[in-house]
Amino acid sequence: MAIHFDDHNLRASMVGAEHGITGAELREAVPTAREALRSFRKGFEEGRYGFPSLPSDTTTIQAIQHYAQEQAGSYDTVCVVGIGGSALGAWALDCALQGPHPVQSKGHPRLVVLDNIDPAFLRLALDSMNPRKTLVLPIAKSGSTAETAATFLIVREWLTVALGRKAPRRIAAVTTEGKGDLYALAVREGYRVFFLPENVGGRFSVLSAVGLLPAALTGLDVRKIGKGAAAMTRLCWRDDLETNIALRAAMLHHLVWTRKGKSIQVAFPYSNQLWGAAFWFRQLWAESLGKARDRAGNLVHAGQTPVAALGATDQHSQAQLYMEGPNDKVFTFWAVRRFADPGRIPRAKTGFAAFDYLTSQTLARLIEAERRATTAALTNELRPNCTFTLDRIDEGHIGGFLQLMEFETAFLGELLHIDAFDQPGVEAGKRFTFGLMRRPGAKQYRASFEEYEAKRARAETRSPARADA
Ligand code: PA5
Repeated sequence: MAIHFDDHNLRASMVGAEHGITGAELREAVPTAREALRSFRKGFEEGRYGFPSLPSDTTTIQAIQHYAQEQAGSYDTVCVVGIGGSALGAWALDCALQGPHPVQSKGHPRLVVLDNIDPAFLRLALDSMNPRKTLVLPIAKSGSTAETAATFLIVREWLTVALGRKAPRRIAAVTTEGKGDLYALAVREGYRVFFLPENVGGRFSVLSAVGLLPAALTGLDVRKIGKGAAAMTRLCWRDDLETNIALRAAMLHHLVWTRKGKSIQVAFPYSNQLWGAAFWFRQLWAESLGKARDRAGNLVHAGQTPVAALGATDQHSQAQLYMEGPNDKVFTFWAVRRFADPGRIPRAKTGFAAFDYLTSQTLARLIEAERRATTAALTNELRPNCTFTLDRIDEGHIGGFLQLMEFETAFLGELLHIDAFDQPGVEAGKRFTFGLMRRPGAKQYRASFEEYEAKRARAETRSPARADA
């Protein structure tokens, strides 16, 4: 597994001192970065942070592989019912290693991720699956998320209508051991259950059963994913900033964000296979680093807005803004050194200039040229940018890359002195939903929502504007 990090275009020497990091700033930041590593390591050793241990949990990996072998041949679809951290990791792995929809590799069961409660979307999804050929995976760390619970009730009934008392055999849940209502329901109905450790938060759980169970059931080699992640974990504990690229990237992203005002980070993969990972990363970065208070309780409203853009496609959609709009972004390119198929362009000439210079070249060469061209153009406009390059896309590299992103996020949390592992803002929305949907015990949230509605009613002086043709 080899992943490289090129940070030259974050430097003042390339984009000027107003937008880039000077040598003095870098020298000053190094001891602080090492301190962030030490403090995260301490939290890990005290058992507060569990994601670094996931790749070495071979017992879980073996249990998942065993279950996948038992089920082999009995299904053609794996249906994940989950949301946020309980869905995005499975999608990121699937997109990277089976290919983005609708061009997935043939021969493996397909993955359907039900991570929204749009009723039309759910109906289309159910109509596309055969209940006799589907394994259903309800995934929720808390075991009580409203979207997951509601969708699962519908999918469970859909299975039961087709399979009767055999339906529970087609369900495997992932949740917290001994806690929550999904766990209780699974035990009562006899589902197979996998667990994620309590000290692993949803968005850091891709390398637990949350991401690996769907991956194994759709034919991926989860042992190789774990191996790549374990190799990266070893590097991420080193205090040498040449090999610990997670710490290096955290230090530089922190500087460019807090000293140069880059409040937006564009994650810019030049690979459709990494598009799912870009969406997974958006959640990781936003939910972990967007916090009202620091650990001392001071109001800080920290956060860098993550944006996902796809190269080369978004050069024709976003690049104008990126080149000429506000200089408030840092760009992080995700490149692939060797594509599985270079995409050879045929030799035959057409006699037309727009086509003939491309003949005998490859799409891999073209996409790389476009990435380098975009990088150069942004740098010339003094827009700081950096690049992660994966040697290739396979299980080991994806496992390593996802673990690298998680470590970088954790280190940045330390540099900002915030708790990167809680999500009070998400919980607030969840509680209002419970109140509105009349969940027992959530009366006070309904009352506070009603206060909001009363305030709104007082403020409303006219009915909403409407376009009615
Ligand atoms: O990262 C997180 O903790 C959240 O985004 C959760 O993953 C999300 O809210 C879903 O929670 P649960 O797994 O409890 O259904």
